[in-house]
Amino acid sequence: MTAENELEHLNIEAFQHDLVDWYQNNQRELPWRKTKNPYYIWVSEIMLQQTRVDTVIPYFNYFIEQFPTPEDLALADEEEVLKAWEGLGYYSRVRNLQTAVKEVVESYGGEVPKDRAEFRALKGVGPYTSGAVMSIAFDQPEPAVDGNVMRVFSRLLHIEDDIMQAKTKTKFEKVIAQVIEGAPPSDFNQAIMELGALICTPKSPGCLLCPVQAYCQARELGVQEELPVKKKKKEPTRKRIAVLAVQDKEQRWFVRKRPASGLLAGLWEFPQVELEREEEADKALAKMLNDQHAIQAEVEAYLGEVEHVFSHLIWEMEVYTGRVDEKLSSTEMGKWVTDQEAKELAYPVSHQKILKRLEE
Ligand code: ADE
Repeated sequence: MTAENELEHLNIEAFQHDLVDWYQNNQRELPWRKTKNPYYIWVSEIMLQQTRVDTVIPYFNYFIEQFPTPEDLALADEEEVLKAWEGLGYYSRVRNLQTAVKEVVESYGGEVPKDRAEFRALKGVGPYTSGAVMSIAFDQPEPAVDGNVMRVFSRLLHIEDDIMQAKTKTKFEKVIAQVIEGAPPSDFNQAIMELGALICTPKSPGCLLCPVQAYCQARELGVQEELPVKKKKKEPTRKRIAVLAVQDKEQRWFVRKRPASGLLAGLWEFPQVELEREEEADKALAKMLNDQHAIQAEVEAYLGEVEHVFSHLIWEMEVYTGRVDEKLSSTEMGKWVTDQEAKELAYPVSHQKILKRLEE
């Protein structure tokens, strides 16, 4: 079907009017809605990818306080930036953001480019981020399509394509580009996001409260709960991981930095090793520490299990404490830190959970 066919039942002008009118009267007060500063809006949109609004609010406020301008973020130490992001997950988002902001400072005098192609060329800026920032900060009529927006429009227009497929997103972008035409872009896109968050929710959508129910084809057919079509991803892989929180004679902890690329790149961790199904954790830990760090540790106590779920992967972590009877020196492979020093580093959520256990 062409985009025209999708839209043949929609009175676009009336829909825009009712939607935007509702948004103007019902929007939540959110910190990034108090500004037109494109850098702040950009930061908020990166944080809001994969993370809920309630979680993002305090992180957003803190981040903007720490790095109030693109220059501040460009010049900041990566460690400090990761620390401000700690707990939000998907750390490549903030690494890319810092790289992109450096480019903004170097090539655009610290002004976020208004030109869509220039902005889109920056690291980590995909069609969603570009559409969101161009529309919200600069009022350009660009669609900003994520999973929530696809849910709303799949219902409104009764589109049954599988939203897990990349080509479906492209289709929605084409359709929505036509629906946004002539509307105030910032309000239009945020109204759709707001509708998806407050009313057109994944389960039990609040159709009776919906300001655009009269336009909704899924509602007319009574199939709103069956949309969007989302074919199942394969189950995440489970991995057994053993972790050792080891202290030396001076009660310092041994931590190491993860490789610069790949999963959780550049974050700090207690040394860990993946286990085979039947492998004994304490032996594997002692061997790994000896082989990789030339540290001879005594594995002492089993602290318990910590589970961490990624989108594609589950870590079942068996956590042990251990001891070394000497005072050892830090190397390039890892360092010995006091409780206080340990608190200043950025860890993945899984290892933050372990730190918390250790404090208890
Ligand atoms: N989700 C993604 N972007 C958002 C925004 N600007 N406001 C609220 N929720 C969002």
